[in-house]
Amino acid sequence: MTQDPNVRSQVEPTEVGANAAETGERDLEAEPHDAYSDHEVQVPGALEGHVASRLDPDAPAVLEVEDLKMYFPVKSSGLVRRTIGHVQAVDGVSFQVPKGGSLGLVGESGCGKSTTGRLITRLYTPTAGSMMFEGQDLAKLSNRAMKPLRRDVQMIFQDPYTSLNPRHTVGAIVGAPLAVHNVVPKNKILPRVQELLEVVGLNPEHYNRYPNEFSGGQRQRIGIARALTLNPKLLVADEPVSALDVSIQAQVINLLQDLQREFDIAFLFIAHDLAVVRHFCPEVAVMYLGKIVEIADRETLYAAPYHPYTQALLSAVPDVKQAAIGGRRERIRLEGDVPSPINPPSGCRFRTRCPLAQEICAKVEPPLLQVGPRHKVACHFAGELGQHPATPVTAGLLGVDDQGSPSASGPAATEVSTGPGYAKEWFDVKARQMTSQAGTA
Ligand SMILES: Nc1ncnc2c1ncn2[C@@H]1O[C@H](COP(=O)(O)OP(=O)(O)O)[C@@H](O)[C@H]1O
Ligand code: SF4
Ligand SMILES: [Mg+2]
Repeated sequence: MTQDPNVRSQVEPTEVGANAAETGERDLEAEPHDAYSDHEVQVPGALEGHVASRLDPDAPAVLEVEDLKMYFPVKSSGLVRRTIGHVQAVDGVSFQVPKGGSLGLVGESGCGKSTTGRLITRLYTPTAGSMMFEGQDLAKLSNRAMKPLRRDVQMIFQDPYTSLNPRHTVGAIVGAPLAVHNVVPKNKILPRVQELLEVVGLNPEHYNRYPNEFSGGQRQRIGIARALTLNPKLLVADEPVSALDVSIQAQVINLLQDLQREFDIAFLFIAHDLAVVRHFCPEVAVMYLGKIVEIADRETLYAAPYHPYTQALLSAVPDVKQAAIGGRRERIRLEGDVPSPINPPSGCRFRTRCPLAQEICAKVEPPLLQVGPRHKVACHFAGELGQHPATPVTAGLLGVDDQGSPSASGPAATEVSTGPGYAKEWFDVKARQMTSQAGTA
């Protein structure tokens, strides 16, 4: 592992982590899906020994996002600039971030991840939807009413080179939120800054230096210290390690994980590939063109995803364990480019690149259906890789025939929950009926 010379303390594996390394690997397939609290996952090199974050299925949500939308207007050129369309950057996403937990948000570039993060931190005001945080809807608050809440919800940005002002010292950068929010007397700012530099593993005496005197990994630590200044309850980390060297990535992820444990911070952790969030996030949502197409606990999402897009993303993740699970290593190549979010495909947005697409996919949008205790998927042909059904599993629920035309019988009376969080009953796609932990509903 490359050592950062200015980094004082490298994050040590925790006691639990050491035990995890000793215990070694366990077979994912043999693992029951409800074993959330007792599960190790394989992690790449430098993360080994650092125990993966765990899911507390009973933790209350610190953030509950429902049907969130952000449409950016597209203007015509010329003197009179009329709105001629909208970029549907985020189009109806719902999810929860548990208190002190972390949700991963993954998808290719341009699918709306950063916009989602910027909505939550209210750098943008949403077009529609709600974002409940501690009993208040962040979507509806004025800028003034948002000010005290900005302390609680902070963001770590992707690029440590552009997100720090090169003309300000590290002390001024990390101390700025304290000054803006007027939370400590002036003479207490420096000691607090030094304390934070130490917390993120930097030399506290370096507060007078400028960002260009630090490496990429150190700059990201400065950005993390700045985000921690006001003791946030929720951190939106927007691809916090994408711009860093692979060897440094693991150090920064370990640091974030330690901070999460120590300060009980909840994370929305954004990444463009599934490998990065695997260690940190016990729950992961996959986005495509402004929508969540699959969301599940880590064990389910990595071992038995139901959506062809997740399956394709996962086939690109180099992982020995994947090879052990039914030989799923063959690479699924995604054909073509991501379509424009100004004019997305009808029905299922993934259909222009989906190897399974049929007539119904162009006509009817698949709902994000709960298909397991902590698993939701939006696909008419949802199923494990190589076991996708021949006829749409959603047809009966939606009241359409197999081609997507309205059927005489109409939609099934079954209540299908599509809001944030999980219901106690879900739709078993194999049996094609509602079920629950106790059995068929
Ligand atoms: N301020 C903006 N104005 C117009 N379009 C935007 C703006 N920000 C993002 N977009 C568009 O919204 C879509 C989603 O972008 P973004 O949220 O940055 O995706 P990601 O972070 O997943 O790469 C993209 O098509 C992008 O071009
Ligand atoms: S709904 Fe159809 S196009 Fe969309 S992912 Fe499923 S099979 Fe593919
Ligand atoms: Mg982004």
